[in-house]
Amino acid sequence: MDRPVDQEKLRRLASSLLKWYSRHRRAFPWREEPTPYRIWVSEIMLQQTRIEAALPYFDRFMQALPTVSALAQAEEGRLMKLWEGLGYYSRARNLQRAAMIVVADYGGQLPASYEELLSLPGIGEYTAGAIASMAYGLPVPAVDGNVLRVCARLLDDGGDITRAPVKKRLRQAVCAMLPPDRPGDFNQAIMELGETVCLPNTVPLCGGCPLREGCRGRLAGHPERLPVRAEKKARRVERRTVLLVQAGGRVLLHRREDKGLLAGLWELPSAEGWLEPEQAAAVAAAWGAAPRRVEPAGPGRHIFSHIEWQMQGVRILTPPFDPPEGFLWADERRLREETALPSAFRTYSLSLIHI
Ligand code: ADE
Repeated sequence: MDRPVDQEKLRRLASSLLKWYSRHRRAFPWREEPTPYRIWVSEIMLQQTRIEAALPYFDRFMQALPTVSALAQAEEGRLMKLWEGLGYYSRARNLQRAAMIVVADYGGQLPASYEELLSLPGIGEYTAGAIASMAYGLPVPAVDGNVLRVCARLLDDGGDITRAPVKKRLRQAVCAMLPPDRPGDFNQAIMELGETVCLPNTVPLCGGCPLREGCRGRLAGHPERLPVRAEKKARRVERRTVLLVQAGGRVLLHRREDKGLLAGLWELPSAEGWLEPEQAAAVAAAWGAAPRRVEPAGPGRHIFSHIEWQMQGVRILTPPFDPPEGFLWADERRLREETALPSAFRTYSLSLIHI
């Protein structure tokens, strides 16, 4: 690990990797038609979502909002609907804020400079590097978790990759490998290797790896032990009672506050803790309901990055009433077409399709 890395050897490895990539690269829509806008949107989607899961969202998004200016002008509800199911909705909001800036300051064309990309909302070092290299051929790295893993194994670096100095030295190794004439292909090749060969949490498929002869982690006999990563803090568990308040084919929704988890999204209203049905009915009565039937609607669970919701549902049937501010009634069409309900509520929203 502390042996100096031979620059010439790194460049040879990069060339083997590029050869491997030309044979094994998968044909994703943002690779087949690599415009800056398409690359940008795909990279944002892929930040917390697997490629296979993101593909249908990507196609739908491009059809609905094919240009930066269409994104900048999109109505918020429509944008949220296009993002529904991908989670981490702040990604979509930042995408739109950045699109507005790109229209106002750059004539609708994403800037071809790493620093200017980095200054846009939602674009960090990784995304700026990905867009700069893949869309504009600029020689900058795009270091995501896959790249850190491949590099830590390649160099047999046992440092904790959650620490900045370790990330920094792995990033420097990527910079030393980066071929100035094909930075975009190189960045995608190393990610692709991490996704299909140099797999996480298991013994990697070293037999099919173009870097195997130079991989110090493999030669040391322990690639699967790398990278080292400090234990994550345990998630905070929150118990909630989800209230399915229903009146004549409609269900009551509540708008979350503009900050924090699921900011500004419509949700099924809920209360802290697991309430008895009578307590849940009292909460709904405070909003104006006159509960006629109250019944358990079963448990649900959702895992966010830092929080786990353990939910119990209570269905409350009531005659219609005027909801307080921040609430609205949604019928089936509205639920399907307009209002994005976060997937945290999937267990319950499925039972609302035929309200
Ligand atoms: N993961 C995120 N972006 C990617 C890309 N462009 N190619 C392969 N994997 C990726």
